[in-house]
Amino acid sequence: MNKDIESVLITEKDLAEINARLGKEISEDYLGKEVVVVGMLKGVLPFMMDLIRNITIPIKIDFMQPNSYHGGTTSQEMILRKDIDLDIENKHVLLVDDIVDTGKTMKLICDMIGKRNPASVEVVTLLDKPEGRLVELTPKYVGTLVPNAFVVGYGLDFDEYYRNMPYIGILKPEKYQ
Ligand code: IMP
Repeated sequence: MNKDIESVLITEKDLAEINARLGKEISEDYLGKEVVVVGMLKGVLPFMMDLIRNITIPIKIDFMQPNSYHGGTTSQEMILRKDIDLDIENKHVLLVDDIVDTGKTMKLICDMIGKRNPASVEVVTLLDKPEGRLVELTPKYVGTLVPNAFVVGYGLDFDEYYRNMPYIGILKPEKYQ
């Protein structure tokens, strides 16, 4: 896997620091509130596992599975493969994703969840690629900004590979061109 990576963007140490910071902020901001943390499968898995272990207040977790890439590197139509099971009415919902690029996927999810009468809906993203944004979407919690390149690792995939790399790197363009 490592030979397919052009450069390392975010190391395991950086990821641990990001998760500690975000977990602390969320724990402080949502103290005393009923919180449901909803992760977007499958890319969110490593981030979600590390993030929730840094959240020190009681939370419930659930998952949704939107799919926008269908094995390529550009956003297409979104298909919802799995919805949440928990009731979120009057609950504070935190939607967690690995990366917000065009913002289209998360905007659709926010609108869908917003119609179910939650107390609030906010977005947590490990990575934010603001240069790619095509719709208005501002995540409340951002791990770090990334340049407009295709990144893989720590949950992020290309054609379902690289999710198990423990760090995040830029994929060599010849791997997907
Ligand atoms: P958006 O709808 O364009 O914001 O895309 C959101 C989804 O696209 C993310 O949850 C990722 O699954 C995927 N995605 C966007 N950029 C990248 C990338 O650089 N590498 C891997 N997946 C990406």
